[in-house]
Amino acid sequence: MFSINGNKAGRRPGEGAPYAHIVGWGMAVPEKVVTNRDLSEIVDTSDEWIVSRTGIRERRIAGPRDTTASLAIRAARQALGVANLKPREVQLIILATSSPEYIFPSTASIVQDALGATNAGAFDLSAACSGFIYALSLGAQMIRSGALETVLVIGSETLSRLVNWTDRETCILFGDGAGAFVLQAREQPGGVLSSILRSDGSGGDLLIIPAGGSKLPTTADTVRDNLHTIAMNGREVYRFATRVMVSAAKEVVASAGLTLDDLSLIIPHQANLRIIQAAARGLGLPEERFMINLDRYGNTSTASIPIAVCEAVSQGRIQPGDNMVLVGFGAGLTWGATMLSWAAVTPPQVSRWERIRRQGLYAVARARSVARRSWRHVEGLVWGSQESGEVRQAPVEVEQKM
Ligand code: UT7
Repeated sequence: MFSINGNKAGRRPGEGAPYAHIVGWGMAVPEKVVTNRDLSEIVDTSDEWIVSRTGIRERRIAGPRDTTASLAIRAARQALGVANLKPREVQLIILATSSPEYIFPSTASIVQDALGATNAGAFDLSAACSGFIYALSLGAQMIRSGALETVLVIGSETLSRLVNWTDRETCILFGDGAGAFVLQAREQPGGVLSSILRSDGSGGDLLIIPAGGSKLPTTADTVRDNLHTIAMNGREVYRFATRVMVSAAKEVVASAGLTLDDLSLIIPHQANLRIIQAAARGLGLPEERFMINLDRYGNTSTASIPIAVCEAVSQGRIQPGDNMVLVGFGAGLTWGATMLSWAAVTPPQVSRWERIRRQGLYAVARARSVARRSWRHVEGLVWGSQESGEVRQAPVEVEQKM
């Protein structure tokens, strides 16, 4: 019997394969809105240029209290609320991000602690802007194999902290935010039907943060030369994106045994309106069939697709039984697509009392985290290792500020 993290079903892989449904969804964006006009005061650009070349009008930028984890926590709490699940029912957290809080520990572990998801494993997934598609595919496969029943998949970014604010070609593109899905095993056919994941590392230098990793560790020179910020060959990424959006969408639809005519909606990575329009032309589909919200958020990398799904749901653009494709691309180069059939999941009416009870659970999680930290410190004193526990900065500080 194969089982991970207490999956009570204890299914053998592939036996009576359940479907992986999206039963909860949530999003979070920082409060601060930065318009194109605001940017034209710091770099040589204009609202007219940005709107005509990208479709972006404004983006949300993290304030001093926002971090990749804090946005992820907000989105995850909302998704768990829609799914009406307790954090301890989550068995795995996959957090896709291009702007993790640290190289390690993973931002996913910080989120796990803050949620009080005490039965969950947690890890970060790095596939740049395609990360959410990768994470969703992985989470769904864990469920379809019978290994797990409940997986939390998150895309979260504070890319504004990694942008070169003197580079007009990149700083106009990116924004901050987070989106989360709760995936759960159901017998009812539907949910994540198929995915395709691809990579072409020969294009790695087209979109890169050159320094700060093991190849080019941080030195005074790397900081002086601005090598810790995003560097991009926009035209090449543009050409690549228009090509793979079409091929990935076609491939994933075919792999699910469907045709483009079966699609109610396509939810593309929100990088550039012109890329989406080119994909619509390439697929022979009207632009109305695409969910577009990049005018208000810019490119939020791994968060762009789940945020767009949340907004499509709240705008009534997704109905039970709808077939949809999620498709994305990014640094790596990476790209991928997922074919979804939306189930008849009705968000439960949550009473005021229930909301208070949930806040109570998160307060307990905070208290548990502090207690564990203190206990580790006491143990360190008793066993003679006074340094044990915290090293310079405690990751959980993020959550305590919220
Ligand atoms: O998740 C993946 C993230 N990356 C992407 O999706 C990027 C994909 N690429 C793009 O979206 C587009 O290539 C950009 C929006 C980045 C650039 O648009 P473009 O139409 O490809 O412009 P370009 O690079 O061909 O530049 C045209 C001109 C240049 O001036 P010259 O050489 O013709 O005099 C640029 O210097 O526009 C200039 N330019 C700007 N002008 C005003 C570049 N950025 C700006 C700007 N404001 N912000």
